[in-house]
Amino acid sequence: MNEESRLLSSQVKDPNSPDKKSEKDYSKYFQAIYTPPSLKEAKKRGKEEVAYHNDFAIAEEFRGMGQNRKFYIRTYGCQMNEHDTEVMAGIFMQLGYEPTDTVDDANVILLNTCAIRENAENKVFGELGHLKHLKQNNPDVLIGVCGCMSQEESVVNKILKTYNQVDMIFGTHNIHRLPNILNEAYLSKEMVIEVWSKEGDVIENLPRVRKGSIKAWVNIMYGCDKFCTYCIVPYTRGKERSRRPEDIIQEIRHLAAQGYKEVTLLGQNVNAYGKDFEDLDYRFGDLMEDLRKIDVARIRFMTSHPRDFDDHLIEVLAKGGNLVDHIHLPVQSGSSEILKIMARKYSREHYLELVNKIKTAIPNASLTTDIIVGFPNETDEQFEETMSLYKEVGFEIAYTYIYSPREGTPAAKMVDNVPMEVKKERLQRLNKLVNDMSAEAMKKHDGQIVEVLVEGESKNNPDVLAGYTSKSKLVNFKGPKEIIGQLVQVKITDAKTWSLTGELVEVPNGQKVGI
Ligand code: 5AD
Ligand code: SF4
Repeated sequence: MNEESRLLSSQVKDPNSPDKKSEKDYSKYFQAIYTPPSLKEAKKRGKEEVAYHNDFAIAEEFRGMGQNRKFYIRTYGCQMNEHDTEVMAGIFMQLGYEPTDTVDDANVILLNTCAIRENAENKVFGELGHLKHLKQNNPDVLIGVCGCMSQEESVVNKILKTYNQVDMIFGTHNIHRLPNILNEAYLSKEMVIEVWSKEGDVIENLPRVRKGSIKAWVNIMYGCDKFCTYCIVPYTRGKERSRRPEDIIQEIRHLAAQGYKEVTLLGQNVNAYGKDFEDLDYRFGDLMEDLRKIDVARIRFMTSHPRDFDDHLIEVLAKGGNLVDHIHLPVQSGSSEILKIMARKYSREHYLELVNKIKTAIPNASLTTDIIVGFPNETDEQFEETMSLYKEVGFEIAYTYIYSPREGTPAAKMVDNVPMEVKKERLQRLNKLVNDMSAEAMKKHDGQIVEVLVEGESKNNPDVLAGYTSKSKLVNFKGPKEIIGQLVQVKITDAKTWSLTGELVEVPNGQKVGI
């Protein structure tokens, strides 16, 4: 499929223009130019080859577009989105824009959105409401909506109907088209919509402005083919496609040379890395093996699917070194019946078996997880199985969510007999357990010396430094500002539920520090 035929939409008339169409007309026009996420269509994926592009460049005609203009990007959702924002910031900078951290000052405002749960979407609609006044006072400001929500038909329809302060909508597959989209938005008074079909290629050599100089995110793959029945991601992020190992290794070597201390490998399901290579037998374990040899202090990854977590990967992770002893392994539920309806493709027993393998190979490993409570028709007994699994694994932290139906997913069509009150009560009980077990895990650190990557001043007290251990535990301690960005030894003196307090004992050159 060529680029033209994948460009599914271009411009839609401004709802405020004199020839304003009726709602009915609008939706008709809209259907013709936009392919909504469809399970049937999305499941046909895999037949098209992934194309790798290495030729991103700012066209001559767009250079200087950002002169005397500022951009502001607000990011919602996961680290994948945070990293996409870094790429868009890189493109803005190449166009000559300057960054600003207030909307009042901006000439272009982008909302990089998340679609994973309804409340994430509501926040965006709320923000668009606030921005209406700004647009009224300053009609020249451009407002754009991008990210996962833009890939949903219902969202684009709602924006068209209700939020005519929006000038641009573009999806997750065409971030690199930002210069063209901006250009169109400047030239026309009509809303520019550019949302591409479900697949997506891999675009290399995009510019990025990274948020810090200590930790960096690196995409290793895009998309998801798992189709868990509750999840919108396979529709909003396209099919699984891996970056070539040489591109990833080169990017991380470059980060190491620039002095970055920690790299987080990103993907919706990093364990599926390499499954899509037709010419190469190279999987996530092989990549981790190669990354062990790079001189960067810590390598993490987010996020894993238990199904693809293979023995070779465990073997490589057990070698330690710069591969951290923290594994985030979303389980979602402790009930095999619920896991089946979620289409997770593993049972409670399989998950526990995997955990045992990990613990045997890496006795020190800290495990964290994601859990959904109140999935359609979840019984009390099934919820209790989640509680018991949580204790049995001994998770140190969990991100817990009440199930949120996502239009277009199979679970959204399931009749649900669990009242919201019951779901809330289950969430509360689970969160209590999560807190207790986090406090317990923290207590184990009391009196111990841990290695901390110092990230900066504590948010609550500028006289205190803050950083994280390899197991992602927040540590606050007093020390000189010069050690920001370094790995230091800290003796823990107090363990709270969510953080540790300690005293600096040693800086990297082995010097003892008087406190
Ligand atoms: N409702 C609630 N939580 C969800 N998640 C994904 N989809 C949904 C949904 N529809 C959670 C899962 C996932 C995390 C990123 O968000 O736990 O691992
Ligand atoms: Fe949200 Fe998922 Fe999109 Fe990340 S990939 S922004 S979690 S919907």
